[in-house]
Amino acid sequence: MESLRVGVLLSGSGTNLQAILDAAGVEYSVVVVVSDKADAFGLQRARDAGVPAVHVDPRGYDGRDAFNEAIADVLRAHDAGLVCLAGFMRILAPNLVKAFENRILNIHPALLPAFPGGHAVRDALDWGVKITGTTVHLVDEEVDHGPIVLQRAVPVEAGDTEDSLHERIKEVEHVLYPEAIRLFAAGRIHVDGRRVRIG
Ligand code: GRF
Repeated sequence: MESLRVGVLLSGSGTNLQAILDAAGVEYSVVVVVSDKADAFGLQRARDAGVPAVHVDPRGYDGRDAFNEAIADVLRAHDAGLVCLAGFMRILAPNLVKAFENRILNIHPALLPAFPGGHAVRDALDWGVKITGTTVHLVDEEVDHGPIVLQRAVPVEAGDTEDSLHERIKEVEHVLYPEAIRLFAAGRIHVDGRRVRIG
């Protein structure tokens, strides 16, 4: 069986990308990494791994649709069969979501549907929850909304700061995201409405 070709979108440090790269093998390989930020450290991680690293500058395009189409073009040019959002800090436009329908995963640092949005770890801490975690889900046109593939819990500890809690969540993410990609690669993710059955 041919290995799954994965494209990764990110905006930042890319520790999840690193975990995905480190776990790549017969099931999947990372074929391109795309960032909206030229100085995202994740692009450097890609180069170090010998993976094409592409900066798509949103300022170079006339609006969100054109920017998203440019990303879709890069992903198509590398024949990506799965797209993984790994700290990509922009909301995907419908044209990109449709181009890779049910083939885009995101990882979110909370147990969705609790604490969607850009500061999930802080929001969970401020709410006073005792357990939070991380979610891998399929991406649809709404933010942090698509069908849930995998979730794992992370207890909040007394004295946790946003950073300390996020660090522990990321440790779990680094195991969970490659696991979800391997399930996708094996054709074991079956979507039925909001529900995902792992076959
Ligand atoms: C992760 O916590 C992920 O859940 C969120 O953004 C963060 C990215 O971190 N979507 P990194 O760049 O992979 O270190």
